[in-house]
Amino acid sequence: MSAIPFIDLQAQRRRIASEIEHAVTVAVEGGQYIMGPQVRGLEEQLAQFAGVKHCIACANGTDALMIVLRAWNIGPGDAVFVPAFTFAASAEVVALVGATPVFVDVLEDTYNIDPKSLEAAIAMVKREGKLMPRAVMPVDLFGQPADYSAIEAIVAREKLKLLVDTAQGFGATIDGRQTAAIGDAAGTSFFPAKPLGCYGDGGATFTNDGDLAELLRSIRVHGQGTDKYENVRVGVNSRLDTIQAAILIEKLKIFPQEIEMRERVARRYTEAFRRSNRVKPPHVIEGAQSTWAQYTIQVSDRDKLAADLKAKGIPTAIYYPTPLSHQKGYAHFPSAGTPVSDRIAKHVISLPMHPYLDEATQDRIIAAVLESAGA
Ligand SMILES: Cc1ncc(COP(=O)(O)O)c(C=O)c1O
Repeated sequence: MSAIPFIDLQAQRRRIASEIEHAVTVAVEGGQYIMGPQVRGLEEQLAQFAGVKHCIACANGTDALMIVLRAWNIGPGDAVFVPAFTFAASAEVVALVGATPVFVDVLEDTYNIDPKSLEAAIAMVKREGKLMPRAVMPVDLFGQPADYSAIEAIVAREKLKLLVDTAQGFGATIDGRQTAAIGDAAGTSFFPAKPLGCYGDGGATFTNDGDLAELLRSIRVHGQGTDKYENVRVGVNSRLDTIQAAILIEKLKIFPQEIEMRERVARRYTEAFRRSNRVKPPHVIEGAQSTWAQYTIQVSDRDKLAADLKAKGIPTAIYYPTPLSHQKGYAHFPSAGTPVSDRIAKHVISLPMHPYLDEATQDRIIAAVLESAGA
């Protein structure tokens, strides 16, 4: 049987190949390879899509988060609360600015930050008195919005900044709100495998705060002032390529439909797995629309499942095998305890997920999963 791709980027490419090739040609012929007009155009379209006043494109999702922390002067002695079960970049950006990531546990069924664990971590930091709590960075893991109504109440009470890591969740909504519109700022990634991905690295920050937007625009280009060679602060080099912006403009046109297509795939998986008591499908919270960056289940023996599926030409992936709180580079940072992250990291396994997964292929995957799990 033919091998199934984990994410079929080529199916999307075939659909809009001529539009993308035209857009790239226009960008190349235009000759403004860095910060060309397509970058500004994309920023406006993304801001409008997300319902946010300002969008600042940059080189990748890691920078999109990091430059916000820099703009807020978060640094040595400051604590930023991040989930333990996430991609390294979420905590990396905190450490990169010299601040301390404090690990918070996640919820078993949504994989997102646990508001109760967040409260416990904030209380721990305040009690110890060594670090100043400054910000919370929830992650929309696998595309699902975190529980923002609970998180917003905590950050308001504790007077903390809220920076949303929606690298995996751009386009997701909760109670009709786009995740990029939540908090004081949000950062996303356009890494190729992301639901809205370009053909290289890319990222963007979103905020309704005009002063912050101005700072971010300066920091992204070497702390530039009003003139190109005026440097009013220490910044970074984090620009989005014009070609990538041109590609993203074309992809954004079909993005809302692609989210619906992903939802259809996810719903079929969940309906099938609900009938089994050996496969735990992901739970989506009330009022939330995930972008399904990943479709991640839990099983008791995931090594067996991965091997059985591989033998049938079905790829799987493990996001994430080790919580950050136990990674060598991060284990020395404080944590309020992450028992749920520790447990689920041993059982999670992600299945092929993309908008162009046809029903026959999906049925093949579902049958293989159920057979392997013994359901
Ligand atoms: C949760 C999360 N945060 C941040 C990032 C960083 O994005 P990038 O790879 O574009 O730097 C990623 C990307 O994989 C991510 O998954």
